[in-house]
Amino acid sequence: MDSKDGEYMVEVEDLHKGFDGNQVLDGVTCQIPAGKISVVMGPSGTGKSVLLRHVVGLLYPDKGDVRVAGKSVPHLNEEELLELRRNVGMLFQDGALFSSMNLYDNVAFPLRQHTKKSERDIKEIVMQRLEEVGLQEAVTKMPNELSGGMRKRAGFARALVLEPELLLFDEPDSGLDPVRTALLCDLIKQIQRKYNSTGVVISHDIKSCFNIGDHIILLHGGKVVDQGSKEELQRSTKPFTQQFIKGAVEGPLGME
Ligand SMILES: Nc1ncnc2c1ncn2[C@@H]1O[C@H](COP(=O)(O)OP(=O)(O)OP(=O)(O)O)[C@@H](O)[C@H]1O
Ligand SMILES: [Mg+2]
Repeated sequence: MDSKDGEYMVEVEDLHKGFDGNQVLDGVTCQIPAGKISVVMGPSGTGKSVLLRHVVGLLYPDKGDVRVAGKSVPHLNEEELLELRRNVGMLFQDGALFSSMNLYDNVAFPLRQHTKKSERDIKEIVMQRLEEVGLQEAVTKMPNELSGGMRKRAGFARALVLEPELLLFDEPDSGLDPVRTALLCDLIKQIQRKYNSTGVVISHDIKSCFNIGDHIILLHGGKVVDQGSKEELQRSTKPFTQQFIKGAVEGPLGME
């Protein structure tokens, strides 16, 4: 999965999506640079998760296009979609672990589904990933026996097992304490560097955004109101950008 010209891994063009008369995305256009971390920020309910779901073909646009590595996702056939998902690691907002499987089997699942690796090789990979997120002691635990933060880290380990070129994280930091958030941000950065992958992180936490984001995209009212490097956004004269940056820094905006 090579990005089209080495420049953008994901291109979103004039994306429209509504549900039962509720227009959520109203012409979103943005680009995700390859080999970097992009952060998508915006108030709760603006459609950040909806946007991310279009990237892996879990939702289809009413209008507009989403291209990954130059290929239009809504136009992929089933086989191509499977191939795309093999190359994309997605951490859902709630961790989305299978409740009937223990932690080990949850993390091993993508390897068993998408590769022909032996159980011995799978064990090596799974244990390495679990060690990276500090969960090697919890392998036999069931999801309901894990804390919210542990579930998040487990989802993170699972998103990484196939060494994906594109990593999508939907609020990896929500429900985590500040120390864990900082550790997770470091981990995202480390992994991104190690595999030279492209990362997209959705977050409400302005500190983690500025810490890990090479490129920042600001969503509001169904549109991209601003995007650029953190320096560019800090210099931006757009009132929403300033309010958002300052507001989020100063304290709770009631956006959780
Ligand atoms: N499958 C769906 N069917 C109907 N409405 C949906 C669906 N998915 C999302 N929505 C609606 O789309 C809007 C945007 O939802 P989304 O989950 O993308 O918000 P968000 O920006 O991720 O918010 P948060 O920061 O709280 O996670 C919401 O009004 C939500 O109710
Ligand atoms: Mg969301």
